[in-house]
Amino acid sequence: MIERAELVRWLKWQIEAGADEAIAEEAIDRFAATRPKAEAPSFSKAEAAPMPAASGAAAKAAYFDQGPVDQGPTPAPALQAPSIPPASAPPARPMAPALASRAATENDARERAGFAQSLDDLRAALDDFDGCPLKATATKLVFGDGNPKAPVMFVGEAPGEDEDRQGVPFVGVSGRLLDRMAGWIGLDRTTFYIANSIYWRPPGNRTPTPAEITACQPFLRRQIELVGPRILVLVGGAAASALLGRAEGIGKLRGRWHVYDPDGLAIPALAFYHPAYLLRSPGQKREAWRDLLTLQDRLRELGLARPSPGTH
Ligand code: URA
Repeated sequence: MIERAELVRWLKWQIEAGADEAIAEEAIDRFAATRPKAEAPSFSKAEAAPMPAASGAAAKAAYFDQGPVDQGPTPAPALQAPSIPPASAPPARPMAPALASRAATENDARERAGFAQSLDDLRAALDDFDGCPLKATATKLVFGDGNPKAPVMFVGEAPGEDEDRQGVPFVGVSGRLLDRMAGWIGLDRTTFYIANSIYWRPPGNRTPTPAEITACQPFLRRQIELVGPRILVLVGGAAASALLGRAEGIGKLRGRWHVYDPDGLAIPALAFYHPAYLLRSPGQKREAWRDLLTLQDRLRELGLARPSPGTH
């Protein structure tokens, strides 16, 4: 019989890992459908538990396939990470099942997004798309907001709790700061359009995994194409690396012009610090102000600048 204290430890671990909502009575092994039984790697006994155990942040990241994660409290030392398959494991196949299924999802997404001739079509296509597991845990699809004919489009990271409840991007505390910042250079939601790199809230606001970003990417690319902005503003490191495919952190990417160029779209893109980061690190607002002026200069060059509150 499992001790109560141990159960509590497991639950805490799950919450830290972002699994903060129960969506069914029983756990579903979503890997089972894609893992051929005969070739399944051997896992330690600990992995047979409802949630795999882990011995640290790296093991959590590996399990969720999401790259680095916050160095939160270390889980109970008694629990073990999944064991590495033995050296005698069968030779690698051309494409691992997880990768093959990711490629199939991406193809499906690309096909659905490609058919969309309007933003309404695209939204409907996303409503029908089940390739991003976040849809199962989110409350609402968070598609886009603002003026879909605007020359400036902001792209953020992922919906948070408020956005998930309302189905509108950037309506929480970060969104209010972003609106204020845009207002400093005369922009508002009638003069910009805004969306996110992914369309559903990750549980517990964890960082979206590469697989989730890949699944949503064809829709975002089509959304950008349909809006047709003259300038893209990438809000935060996740959006910057998702759209630019760059490995550098936002500290290196921000404040400089890049080009978002899938299939020759060639849209100038400026990366910004995320307002959530600015709320945590107000000392960086100075740099953010500089980045806003960089954006304003480009808008002026293009004849798109609006008077900001302080300049008229
Ligand atoms: N942060 C984001 O990146 N996007 C939102 O929509 C809200 C908060």
